[in-house]
Amino acid sequence: MADLMLGIETSCDDTGVAIVRPDGTVVSAAVASQVELHDRYGGVYPEMASRAHVDAILPTVRKVLDDAGLTPADLTAIGVTRGPGLIGSLVVGTNTALGLGDGWGLPVYGVNHLRGHLRSADLDERRVEYPAMVLLVSGGHTLLAHVEESGDVTLVGSTRDDSVGEAYDKVARMLGLGYPGGPAIDRLAKTGTADVPFPRPAKDLDLDFSFSGLKSSVSRFLAANPDHPPEDVAASFVAACLDVLLTKCRKALERHPSRCLVVVGGVAASPQLRAGAQELCESAGVTLCLPPLRWSTDNGAMIGLAAWDYVERGLDARPKPDTSLTIAD
Ligand code: KG4
Ligand code: ZN
Repeated sequence: MADLMLGIETSCDDTGVAIVRPDGTVVSAAVASQVELHDRYGGVYPEMASRAHVDAILPTVRKVLDDAGLTPADLTAIGVTRGPGLIGSLVVGTNTALGLGDGWGLPVYGVNHLRGHLRSADLDERRVEYPAMVLLVSGGHTLLAHVEESGDVTLVGSTRDDSVGEAYDKVARMLGLGYPGGPAIDRLAKTGTADVPFPRPAKDLDLDFSFSGLKSSVSRFLAANPDHPPEDVAASFVAACLDVLLTKCRKALERHPSRCLVVVGGVAASPQLRAGAQELCESAGVTLCLPPLRWSTDNGAMIGLAAWDYVERGLDARPKPDTSLTIAD
């Protein structure tokens, strides 16, 4: 059996492994989540994350091979996240991939995590039409990038401080909702009314974002209004985030002709953001491309598919951890 990439993702708190074909077909996939571990502390503790990856990585690799009835001899190559991310977590992934590659006689490609998110929209089936405008919204990043068919990426906007996922997680903590905050905030927000006029940050930052001011104003509001219904605070916070994200997307689409808007990263799992992006695309006359929910948050399949790009384009792909990578690298 040819053309099977083993994708390994360990940049943060999920150990994701998958086997992927060059056309985006996912043959097998598993994610060992550390949510319970980090929920106890209200966020990700880097050293604990590294240790948990050490425990989970080989059993997860074995599981995806067994689930598909494959052996290492069936694999073509290994793609592993080389950055950006938590350095300890990246070292566990890259070192394991190098060891497996050496033992099994397979080449190992180091993949940019952000390019992995970008490619998540083409998993299971091809959706993206180029040129594309990409909104990447995750725990670590918030950015807008214009991407050509060739894979050339132009960064058109990024956050000056917190990522939107970080803001979701911190506001969730203020509301006592646990970790990760995104899904919990979404659920609560659905039952509330957006009655608090939180500021729309970064209005004057052109296509850049800023979320730390919004986070602080939620904190100040909660201190001054402890009895305000939490579902209304959550709904107001989500409304402010979406307003900012979608306004910047509209501006970016006006400025950079694109055939579709691609929304990827953990926050792309938000039903509110998905619905808002759909409305925006209809009025802007572009197609909306979303990864299936299971590929929105960190996973090995997106790294496996992105690794095929490195093979096909002969890109520099040393499996060396690098926390400073940008989406243009
Ligand atoms: O892409 P991801 O899994 O990891 C990073 O690369 O950072 O994104 C994780 C982020 C977290 O901040 C989490 O709260 C957020 O994605 N998230 C969501 C949802 N599911 C996860 N945010 C909003 N709505 C969701 N349903
Ligand atoms: Zn990610």
